[in-house]
Amino acid sequence: MSENENAIIERTKVWVEPQLKDCDVGHDFWHVQRVFNNAIFLCNIEGGNRFIILMAALLHDVVDEKYFNPHQKEFEIKKYLTSEGLAISQINEILNIITNMSFSNEFEGNKQKFVEFKIVQDADRLDAIGAIGIARAFSYGNHHNRIFFDPSVLPIDVKSKNEYRKSVSPTLNHFFEKLLLLKNLMNTETGKEIAIQRARFMIDYLKQFINEYNVINKSETVRWFDLIKMFE
Ligand code: ADP
Ligand code: NI
Repeated sequence: MSENENAIIERTKVWVEPQLKDCDVGHDFWHVQRVFNNAIFLCNIEGGNRFIILMAALLHDVVDEKYFNPHQKEFEIKKYLTSEGLAISQINEILNIITNMSFSNEFEGNKQKFVEFKIVQDADRLDAIGAIGIARAFSYGNHHNRIFFDPSVLPIDVKSKNEYRKSVSPTLNHFFEKLLLLKNLMNTETGKEIAIQRARFMIDYLKQFINEYNVINKSETVRWFDLIKMFE
């Protein structure tokens, strides 16, 4: 990357950080920094345009519809990137990545993904799984007043963006409705390898969780263990 591009990256960090101050702690600037570092790691192995990848990694949650009006934010990002002197084609590429990479978009059919898109999406998804993923899920659940777990409320097979967003199930169900699915949705070989290891950790965690949850009857325990097995 050129010196100018490095300087833009540094200024973009400063631009992004305050925008995320009201998000839950799972979507704060630490999340962005982890995604940024995941993206560097993946880019070193998988290639792609490093500047576009890192800019998209930094900006990806500023357009999150859970927290912001995405059209308003898109406008602000465009204005900011123009002021930094980026070409229209670069701005469009970055916006294409960050407005389409959300998990909820998976319900809207297969889109053609270019390498930079694949890397930023994988970088974000890696932060949704493993030990950090567990912490983020409970943080999100707390932010939305969700209980941890109710043995009688089973996970659902979410089929649409609307259904996914509207789900108010206990946090543990989110592992079955999204987090455990991610390892099969990774775009890059490197991302997939890391995801498999992190998914294994979550499976062990879920088994331990059910074992410790002593307010659950035998048949429910068997049912939850059967569910976990489906993702092993
Ligand atoms: P994306 O960032 O790909 O759009 P989401 O917005 O659905 O995906 O989720 C981002 C992160 O927020 C998840 O990885 C998880 O940590 C948390 N999260 C989202 N929905 C839930 C939920 N229903 N329960 C617990 N955590 C959630
Ligand atoms: Ni994110």
